Amino acid sequence: MLNERILSIQNELQIAEIESEEMLETFRLTYLSKNGVIQALFKEMGSVPPESRAEMGQKMNALKTLAQEKFQQAKSKLEGVQSDSFRAADDISIPADPTPAGSLHPLSITHRDIKQIFYRLGFTIADGPELEDDFHNFTALNFPPDHPARDMQDTFFVRKSERPDEDDLVLRTHTSPVQIRLLQKTKPPVRAIMPGRVFRNESVTAKSYFQFHQVEGLYIDRHVTMAALIDTLVKFVKMMYGNDVKYQVRPSFFPFTEPSIEMDIWWGDKNSGKWLEILGAGMVDPNVLQAVNIDPEEFSGYAFGMGVDRIALLRYGMDDIRTLYENDIRFLEQFPL
Ligand code: DAH
Repeated sequence: MLNERILSIQNELQIAEIESEEMLETFRLTYLSKNGVIQALFKEMGSVPPESRAEMGQKMNALKTLAQEKFQQAKSKLEGVQSDSFRAADDISIPADPTPAGSLHPLSITHRDIKQIFYRLGFTIADGPELEDDFHNFTALNFPPDHPARDMQDTFFVRKSERPDEDDLVLRTHTSPVQIRLLQKTKPPVRAIMPGRVFRNESVTAKSYFQFHQVEGLYIDRHVTMAALIDTLVKFVKMMYGNDVKYQVRPSFFPFTEPSIEMDIWWGDKNSGKWLEILGAGMVDPNVLQAVNIDPEEFSGYAFGMGVDRIALLRYGMDDIRTLYENDIRFLEQFPL
């Protein structure tokens, strides 16, 4: 009998919800006051057989403690002092809630690393406009008038000139025109890199996009040699990819360099890897120097141009160039500073 009443009060206590001052007072009167149900149990101790008294006493005391705890918890909560936050304020070992930090775009990280390497190799930095005229983008770079890159297929023409004193305007198709701008305003020696965004009228796929990024390089001085170019490029790939990087240099063609080369690095492991082109380069063509009134008999130089997006895709193992331009924050926040 008594046992059952103890159990049923215990159940009531366990499910009791105290959500207001009034409920708290009712709870106190019901379970903890002199006339409450728990006190009533103690009063019946006299009828318990002596051999069970100790056990019953323990159960009733446990019941009373439970009611007191429940009362205290509800009371603190109603007073707005939550026991958890109270402890957190006092306990310096509890970890702080993380503060979200910003992150750098993978292209920014790659740009930064390329720039840092060329600063160490003695290059300064220069830039030019994204909206270019035909002279800087093509003519001064020794593109013949009928060169296929001038075709509407590859180049975004912003203005097709209708007057002889007006040049075509294009979204620059490469960063090489910045070489021309730099040489128009700076006398050699010049040693600079020129990072920037470029545009081509290409269909959008996982591998090609209508905009991407290049870093151009230019060094003009007396007695600049092909050996110096290759030495700089090898230093660059070693600093970028580590001393064990496997690379090759092969002949190529560009209108603005003669001779021209391309550099590939071996990507992947010994058996399943492949050669990937990362840059074009060469000795600046004498026609280019003449276009900016530099005497090719006195000065020579080298130039190179590399694709930043390609380098970023490789280093992060990504296979779709479009992810670089969609600005999905869940993608962008994955890159360590
Ligand atoms: N402008 C070339 C391109 O967009 C890349 C390039 C090749 C730049 C050779 C150079 C160079 O300066 O010397 O494909």
